[in-house]
Amino acid sequence: MKLQCTIPNNSKSYEIEVRNGLLKDLASYSTTLSSRFAIVTHDSLSASYAEPLHNSLKALGNESFIFTFPSGEIHKNREIKESLENQLFEKGLGRDSCVIAIGGGVVTDLSGYLAATFCRGVPLVMVPTSLLAMVDASIGGKNGVNIPYGKNLIGTIYQPHKVVIDPNVLKTLPTADLINGVVEMIKHGLITDHDYFEYLEKNSEKLLKLNPEFLEKSIYDSCRIKKEIVEQDEKENGKRRLLNFGHTIGHALERLSNYLLYHGEAVAIGILVESYMSTLMGILDSVSFERIKKIIMDYKVPLRLQEKFTPDAILEAMRTDKKALKGLPRFVMIEKIGSCLDYNFSYCTQVDEQIVKTALQWMNDDLCRH
Ligand code: GLY
Repeated sequence: MKLQCTIPNNSKSYEIEVRNGLLKDLASYSTTLSSRFAIVTHDSLSASYAEPLHNSLKALGNESFIFTFPSGEIHKNREIKESLENQLFEKGLGRDSCVIAIGGGVVTDLSGYLAATFCRGVPLVMVPTSLLAMVDASIGGKNGVNIPYGKNLIGTIYQPHKVVIDPNVLKTLPTADLINGVVEMIKHGLITDHDYFEYLEKNSEKLLKLNPEFLEKSIYDSCRIKKEIVEQDEKENGKRRLLNFGHTIGHALERLSNYLLYHGEAVAIGILVESYMSTLMGILDSVSFERIKKIIMDYKVPLRLQEKFTPDAILEAMRTDKKALKGLPRFVMIEKIGSCLDYNFSYCTQVDEQIVKTALQWMNDDLCRH
């Protein structure tokens, strides 16, 4: 199943392909872009995915090199990027090379930034191996590294030449990693697509059991929703902010937990608290709110926090959120399943502090285990 992502005023239009078993076609597709390849991956993924690709590329008469770095968000940094750049030059790679990124969000973010700046930009193929990277990180061109001042603060928006998604690779993924992706898929339904949300509602068992047909279709639909948003607002000046639903609070919780909380768990709590704010404001009806709570439970997302973070501490952590205006956080507001308020095309709004505090208190007292 194929999607085409076409961004106005960007000469690059690229394919997102989702198919069980697709990885075996990767080498022959890649040779349409270059004959010199830098495969970037984690040490732990090299034997399963990078080496077979490398061998196929060589067998087809290409030059290919594998570059690895350790897994973990802590390694998505400037030093690793610089070291990879030097290694590519040492192998004689240059403007005519193609970067193939194989891994989760850490690999796709760092490799995207590498490809965007290496010799001022070389072709990039994204091969996401985590569910989160399949439905989110590999699509839409955002890339970057973390610096001591915060996450993803240095980077570019650089669209890939192709996104190659083979759901079969998820068979070896730990459940906690699966949940990171599931929560973004639920979010995609909530912000723009009621039918997709309903499809996810009805099929939680299939996803948790990694049913291949269900994975292929649901990943395809999530990619479709994300790419349609990116096509309308590549630079995140408006509609792309919808993808931040649940993330204003989610990111604050991640930070306060020193990143011990999984991204998906933090965003799931964020989705519920931000939805609760909508109900407190009379925007979202309580039946829809209960459906949102139920789907998060059905997908077995743990709703737990190491401790009760005070509403004041969370408010403080949200002041540096990218949607904040003059130090005050803004939130995406859901009005019904599949639709959010557009607030004159800004797609987010400030919320009375008392409402935010009431919702955060509910999170501590009623929603989360500690
Ligand atoms: N992950 C959110 C975005 O790509 O805009």
